[in-house]
Amino acid sequence: KSIVVLISGSGSNLQALLDSCAAGFIPGKITGVISNKANAFGLKRAEAAGISTAVLSHKGFDSREAYDQALIAAIEQFKPDLIVLAGFMRILTAEFVQHFSGKLLNIHPSLLPKYQGLATHQRAIDAGDTEHGCSVHFVTEQLDGGPVILQAKVPIFPGDDASIVAERVHAQEHQIYPLVVRWFCQDRLQQRANEAWLDGNVL
Ligand code: GRF
Repeated sequence: KSIVVLISGSGSNLQALLDSCAAGFIPGKITGVISNKANAFGLKRAEAAGISTAVLSHKGFDSREAYDQALIAAIEQFKPDLIVLAGFMRILTAEFVQHFSGKLLNIHPSLLPKYQGLATHQRAIDAGDTEHGCSVHFVTEQLDGGPVILQAKVPIFPGDDASIVAERVHAQEHQIYPLVVRWFCQDRLQQRANEAWLDGNVL
């Protein structure tokens, strides 16, 4: 399977996916990495792994629709079976999401449906939550609202700040994202309407 990964930053999830492909845990190949930021460290990780990279800045595009059309074209060059959002910090248009419907995954740093959007760790701390985590989901037109495939939980201890909680969540992200991508590449995972299915069972 051909996998394209979209990033905006550090790319630690990208690294986990690269390592999992190299180890044979994911029966697929990351064929391209696309960033909307030229200085994303994840681009260096991709280059170090010998993977094609592209940068597509929003500058120079008149509208979100125009950008997303260019992004679709850039992605299609890699003939992907799966598109993985790994810290790609842009809101996608309905056209984009529909174009890749059923083969678009995202990871979000909260136990969805809790804390959609930004600053999830601080919001969980502020709410007094003792439990937090991350979710891998299929992307639909609803921002952070698509069907959840897999979640991992972490504790929040008294006195924790957002950075320590983020670190704890990140460690789990690096476990669950490769696992979900593995399932997809094994043809065990599907999106059917607003549901995620694994091995013929709704999740
Ligand atoms: C992760 O926390 C992920 O949940 C969120 O963006 C962050 C990306 O981190 N969507 P990295 O670039 O993979 O290190």
